[in-house]
Amino acid sequence: MKETKISIIGAGNVGASLGQRLIEKDFADVVMVDIVEGLPQGKALDILESGPVIGFTHCISGSNNYADTAGSDVVVITSGVARKPSMTREDLLKINTDIVSNVVKEVIKYSPSCILIVVANPVDAMTWVAYKTSGFPRNRVLGLSGALDGARLATFIALETNTPVTNVSCYVLGEHGTNMVVFPRLAKVNDKPITEILPKETIDTLVQRAINGGAEIVGLLKTSSAFYAPSAAVARMVEAIIKDTQEVLPCASVLSGEYNLQDVVIGVPVKLGKAGIIEVIDLKLTQDEINALSASAEAVRKQIISIPAI
Ligand code: LAC
Repeated sequence: MKETKISIIGAGNVGASLGQRLIEKDFADVVMVDIVEGLPQGKALDILESGPVIGFTHCISGSNNYADTAGSDVVVITSGVARKPSMTREDLLKINTDIVSNVVKEVIKYSPSCILIVVANPVDAMTWVAYKTSGFPRNRVLGLSGALDGARLATFIALETNTPVTNVSCYVLGEHGTNMVVFPRLAKVNDKPITEILPKETIDTLVQRAINGGAEIVGLLKTSSAFYAPSAAVARMVEAIIKDTQEVLPCASVLSGEYNLQDVVIGVPVKLGKAGIIEVIDLKLTQDEINALSASAEAVRKQIISIPAI
């Protein structure tokens, strides 16, 4: 039987930590591809040599050649540039559109049946680019958003309430950016909404911190963006798909009528399994909440419209 295979495009911080997390879970072979000669090979070999210590038996390898990704079940696209101080959002959109569409064209030549997970920013628009470039059905293209943003919010709620983070649950939806949408009534500590536990001002501060979560890390690291939490969130998404767990996680997804939204990508809760997105979960929302989600979707739609023809 063919080994399950996961490919990661881009062997930078997110790509390499994801490679490490996945191989340590030991359910698939992992290939890391990067354009920089030696980088994916060196990082993969270093991780592989930890096998005897950690005790995993699958193989991780590095390559500069997309042919080595052939037959992948899941391909994660981490390539793309991060926004530099001199760059506008539109500049970033243009550069990463070119990168993501070129990567997708290569990937699908060798893995026409794979599931694509996009990490490159702005992730909602880049997920749209991957969807349009690949021509894949929408269940096979998704992006990293709420699984990471929700983890950040859960961390802040756990710290504030002095609760083990495992007893905190929350949903962060909408754009993975400043138009992120958080419904505090859906954030719970020991199954109790935080609206019954914390004052509104505290909740607002925690929510704002989650919205700025990526920027907070960039501000501290200065030369890099976050990668430990992002790679953990992607690893969870990949595991749910490969192991067909049917876990519900918020992910950037192409909408087709859910939440009254069409032909746009935002973070919504989706059930993940072997086929990728098995189901988009249509949460029961209040009118105000639906309006907030629509406004977030419109912000993404503006980016999508401004993308040059793919
Ligand atoms: C962040 C990147 C992964 O939020 O978008 O850190």
